[in-house]
Amino acid sequence: MRNRQATQLLSELSHAGRRGAEFPPSDVPDWPLEDLIPAEFHTAAPPALPELAEPDVVRHFVNLSTLNMSVDTHFYPLGSCTMKYNPKRNERLSNLPGIVDLHPHQPAGQIQGMLQLLFEMQEILAEISGLPAVSLQPAAGAHGELTALFVAAAYFRDRNEHRTKVIFPASAHGTNPASAAMAGFECIELKGTVSANGAADDRGGFVDLEELKRHVDDKTAVFMVTNPNTLGLFEKEIAAAAKIVHDAGGLVYIDGANMNAIMGITRPGDFGGDMMHYNVHKTFTGPHGAGGPGSGPICVRDFLADYLPGPVVRARESSSDEQRYELATPAKTIGRVRSFFGNVGILVRGYCYLRTLGAAGVRSAAELAILNANYLKELLSDILPSAHGEHCLHEFVASADKLAKERGISAMDIAKRLLDHGFHPPTVYFPLVVPHAMMFEPTETESKATLDAFSEAIHKIVAEDGDLLHTAPHTAPISRPEEVNATRKPVLTWPIGG
Ligand SMILES: Cc1ncc(COP(=O)(O)O)c(C=O)c1O
Repeated sequence: MRNRQATQLLSELSHAGRRGAEFPPSDVPDWPLEDLIPAEFHTAAPPALPELAEPDVVRHFVNLSTLNMSVDTHFYPLGSCTMKYNPKRNERLSNLPGIVDLHPHQPAGQIQGMLQLLFEMQEILAEISGLPAVSLQPAAGAHGELTALFVAAAYFRDRNEHRTKVIFPASAHGTNPASAAMAGFECIELKGTVSANGAADDRGGFVDLEELKRHVDDKTAVFMVTNPNTLGLFEKEIAAAAKIVHDAGGLVYIDGANMNAIMGITRPGDFGGDMMHYNVHKTFTGPHGAGGPGSGPICVRDFLADYLPGPVVRARESSSDEQRYELATPAKTIGRVRSFFGNVGILVRGYCYLRTLGAAGVRSAAELAILNANYLKELLSDILPSAHGEHCLHEFVASADKLAKERGISAMDIAKRLLDHGFHPPTVYFPLVVPHAMMFEPTETESKATLDAFSEAIHKIVAEDGDLLHTAPHTAPISRPEEVNATRKPVLTWPIGG
């Protein structure tokens, strides 16, 4: 009942004659609408807009905003998405007037503070990645992938090398092949995986080096690999994989979307990566999801620096204190990929996060993320066994396959019922290589008490009556419109989460 006003449409709440504001009669002549709007769009009567008082409208939207689950209201272990809590200080700092009132067209001399912040952000990202040259321009992780592939293409073009292939493992995030295809490359998927001891095993979860060798040749431009991978496992043979690619003259791209697990511990540049992107909105906190603002800076080795999109921020060697930082365009730049300097609002949040934690704090955030994921994995192991490996990094993929086969309870049933128990579900049915996959990423910002309560809820759920689960959620504003009373198989076949 609390949210009735939100679940009704504004047109249903409308009462003829209600107003939020009254305007005095206009004292300027009417616009000649007939001249401005083509005749076919004229209507006999004005459109039936909802008529409401201001409180009706405010209550409608405020109540509507409470219907959704968010990181600020609920535990949100959506695997692969890193839905960690965003400290409010970063929001406040990024909204300071000295930051939000800047205009990107102001001359460099007037925005030295912002340029210093962006320069230091470049330096920090370079240090964490082990790759020295940085572009802050890409507006999201996928955009970073695409940008780096353009950089790779420009580099090979410059060397007169006709390389056409981008290779990635089957567990890759969908954006990897999408970016490769958009950049004009042929996509090659590595089938099969190996287990931790290197034995061929389709459920092993690691890149199969023999399979990689079979595909790498003088047409290979880039090997794209996420490390830790989408199963929450660190690719232990990553340096050997990188050597295979480098020996054939190709480049190694590390999808850094999972940097949350390794930041401050190991670096893509040290284990063979030539290029990578960050998801600042995931790893260093920022509002994330639903197409919200993102930031996907890329870091590359020195020999690729000249191809980066401009502008980049440089510190001037000999400069007065007033003009220490300047904007520069790399010599063989691929051009701009976004306006101005990137998504500065998110970069400022990430900078505040990194400065607050410092080097030791960054490492400890990664360690806590790993600890939390392993703790939750252990708590759930009796009912949702993990598909791969004994230990995970920041996330793990469990499988509801046994429950589905023995009791007809699907991953979707558990996910939907979790909403009734006050938890956001994990990512389900992704990665596609695990049947009834449930991908949990608790992140470092959650307490042991929250993880215990979550595990308790899942244990309660799997002990509940099957029919109650197939028709869940029961307390959410809407249920499963497509699925109530339907099959126990999920209607959705694409992965949810990301
Ligand atoms: C492994 C991986 N790569 C790439 C991306 C794409 O990042 P974005 O959503 O910022 O485009 C994601 C998204 O979470 C991801 O998990």
